[in-house]
Amino acid sequence: MAARTLISTLLTLLVAVAPVTSDSTFSPLRPPAIPLAVRSPYLSTWLNGDSGGLLPGNWPRFWAQVFDQTTGWQGFIRVDNVTYNWMGGATSPNVVTQTAFEYTATKSTFTFDVDGKVTLTATFLSPVHPTDLLQQSMQFSYLQASVESADGDHHEVQVYSDISGEWAGADTQQAINWSNGLNDGLAFHKFTLTKNTVFAEASDMALWGNWYYGTAANAGVTYRTGCPDTDTREMFINNGRLDNTIDTTFRSIGDDWPVFAFARDFGSVLDEQNVLFTVGLAQDQVINFQGNSTSPEALTALWSTVYTSAEDALSAFYFNWDIETHDAQLLDSKIHNDAFDAGGQDYASLTTLAVRQVFGSLQVAHGSRQNYLFLKEISSDGDIQTVDVIFPAHPIFLYLNPELLKLLLDPLFENQESGHYPNPWSIHDLGFFPNAVGFPNGNDEAMPVEECGNMIIMTLAYALRAKDSDYLAKHWPLLNQWAQFLVNDSLIPDYQLSTDDFAGALANQTNLALKGIIGVRAMSEIAGLSGIVNANQISEQYLNTSMQYVQTWAGLGVNNASDPPHTTLAYNEPDSHGLLYNIYADKLLGLDFVPDWVYDMQSNFYGTIMENYGVPLDTRHSWAKSDWQCFAAAVAAPDVRSQIHEHLVRFVEGTPTNRPLSDLYDAITGEFPTGGPTFINRPVLGGFFALLALPK
Ligand SMILES: *[C@@H]1O[C@H](CO)[C@@H](O)[C@H](O)[C@H]1NC(C)=O
Ligand SMILES: *[C@@H]1O[C@H](CO)[C@@H](O)[C@H](O)[C@H]1NC(C)=O
Ligand SMILES: *[C@@H]1O[C@H](CO)[C@@H](O)[C@H](O)[C@H]1NC(C)=O
Ligand SMILES: *[C@@H]1O[C@H](CO)[C@@H](O)[C@H](O)[C@H]1NC(C)=O
Ligand SMILES: *[C@@H]1O[C@H](CO)[C@@H](O)[C@H](O)[C@H]1NC(C)=O
Ligand SMILES: *[C@@H]1O[C@H](CO)[C@@H](O)[C@H](O)[C@H]1NC(C)=O
Ligand SMILES: *[C@@H]1O[C@H](CO)[C@@H](O)[C@H](O)[C@H]1NC(C)=O
Repeated sequence: MAARTLISTLLTLLVAVAPVTSDSTFSPLRPPAIPLAVRSPYLSTWLNGDSGGLLPGNWPRFWAQVFDQTTGWQGFIRVDNVTYNWMGGATSPNVVTQTAFEYTATKSTFTFDVDGKVTLTATFLSPVHPTDLLQQSMQFSYLQASVESADGDHHEVQVYSDISGEWAGADTQQAINWSNGLNDGLAFHKFTLTKNTVFAEASDMALWGNWYYGTAANAGVTYRTGCPDTDTREMFINNGRLDNTIDTTFRSIGDDWPVFAFARDFGSVLDEQNVLFTVGLAQDQVINFQGNSTSPEALTALWSTVYTSAEDALSAFYFNWDIETHDAQLLDSKIHNDAFDAGGQDYASLTTLAVRQVFGSLQVAHGSRQNYLFLKEISSDGDIQTVDVIFPAHPIFLYLNPELLKLLLDPLFENQESGHYPNPWSIHDLGFFPNAVGFPNGNDEAMPVEECGNMIIMTLAYALRAKDSDYLAKHWPLLNQWAQFLVNDSLIPDYQLSTDDFAGALANQTNLALKGIIGVRAMSEIAGLSGIVNANQISEQYLNTSMQYVQTWAGLGVNNASDPPHTTLAYNEPDSHGLLYNIYADKLLGLDFVPDWVYDMQSNFYGTIMENYGVPLDTRHSWAKSDWQCFAAAVAAPDVRSQIHEHLVRFVEGTPTNRPLSDLYDAITGEFPTGGPTFINRPVLGGFFALLALPK
């Protein structure tokens, strides 16, 4: 078979000349890409927007797209001896009619009309477990297919699904091998790269670990393991069943495309019947971490401390479906209801869409001293534990479980407190995912004021929500060192990068200075709570300094003469302006020390510069950041907040970007920024929860 890229290119051309017409509804919105199996940086399969949001006829893809990066996932249904395609890019037989799509925080659900005879529902559940690290540590996801008669007659129904070797690697020349088995009632296929390299990636995909596809070994289940895609699919299309064989000729991913297939024969169907599949990756070792030891430690999968094998973990996950769906339902409702109450339907649509994208960047890891949570800076750099990526994301953690924020901060503290970082300011990140080995020579991407402010703000935010003052005491020396740096450098920040590094370095950034000043003010609280020697005096010093600084800042960073007045992008540039999102931390920490007039002024100003898809980041470009807009909106007047959320919803629905939601885009066109980087699938969408993370 010719390269799939050719086939998909032809398909794309076909689609282009014959636009997909569909009566499918999309609720609450049609996102630029739909999450299908999204649980970790390596289990991250989506339906891109160029599909029109239609599952049948289009290949799901890994989030990255250096190459094609299809993750082959094909679904057929056979009704009364006629077969239809309900998922995937196989070119025949005919596709079913998609009638509806709906997403919640954890689920993507598609409904199909199969020729008026049968209703098929495909539910993709990627569980999110804010309070259960063990469950969160399993890189597995569910697909449930439900069928029932649509016309009141009985119908003969068989359902088919396969995944391809493409899940194991982007380079289709790589050799894979496979096997199958039965464990505790679960039938599974297993495959892996023939050459595993631990803690290495290619095109953002893991070069180690075993992939699984499983289903309950019920009567009526047949399978094929590693056989060519065309033969296997033909077999089901023609017979409605498979021949339970394994192809023992191991070969590369793209050599006759080995697939891992199951078919389930339901017999005669009237009422609802289901088949459940699980897909995922098992890695014994997950993160390489330089903490408090002389050399980096290989951290293991947390599930491996409970289950003796990956197959046991997989079976436990699979048969936990009832509890998982129940828990998912509770979480979905909580997020929807809280967001709806706080900001209405637009806000609920945004927050709900962000959840899997954020949790899909996380990796739970088990170390000899404790468990940790690691975060991949997906798409922008691939860095691990980037402080100014955890910062925009952190509201979702404060809202769902502050302990998650602590588990993200812990590796940063441990690495720096054990003498592995030489600079007086906070480190920017710990390396490239999954290697959190730090920067013993201090040659990381420097964002001194940014990261010192972020660390102090997030540490206090965690301690306040979790009522954990001991954490402040434990990390006092390093926090105090960073605060000293802010006292030196925040009011008049040197020429440096801020988190918005794609826009370039700049001196005297108004918004950056405010972050540093809030950091100094936060330090006064930290001193008071930590119970250190001379706490009151130190606390008062930091308070005095920050009060002075904020007053001077208002004299340097505000243009009072313009109509309406606004803060500037940088001091001495009165005509510039920028989103003052760092003011959010003042309310988040309950400090209330930035004068009210600054809030009112900014709130009045944003409406006057609003573009089609929101408020631009600053006067350098028409680029916008959705996470920072949510920070700014959270502390703006309610009508301005709603206006910003409404424009963000407009972006989600209107952007031509067609990839897992971007946080950086052109506010006028909704496209990726011309001349700027392409950011997709980044965890910073956790910032959509800024409003929900504020103290009650
Ligand atoms: C499907 O095909 C089988 C075998 O040819 C036949 O026995 C059966 O009646 C057919 N069912 C329907 C609904 O056409
Ligand atoms: C497949 O390759 C892996 C990694 O090299 C190896 O450990 C495993 O034994 C192989 N499995 C089979 C069935 O050959
Ligand atoms: C590192 O480990 C040693 C020995 O357990 C301990 O005394 C020290 O406090 C630890 N330091 C950090 C920064 O965790
Ligand atoms: C702050 O500035 C003082 C005075 O220049 C200097 O001694 C100190 O090392 C600086 N502290 C940090 C953390 O940069
Ligand atoms: C930064 O602003 C201060 C205060 O206005 C000014 O003295 C200094 O020259 C500015 N620095 C730069 C590099 O523009
Ligand atoms: C803080 O400022 C107040 C009022 O100016 C002053 O009385 C006090 O001594 C200052 N405290 C410290 C620790 O500098
Ligand atoms: C702008 O007005 C505020 C409030 O009156 C004042 O505190 C601030 O210093 C003024 N800033 C400038 C640059 O004039």
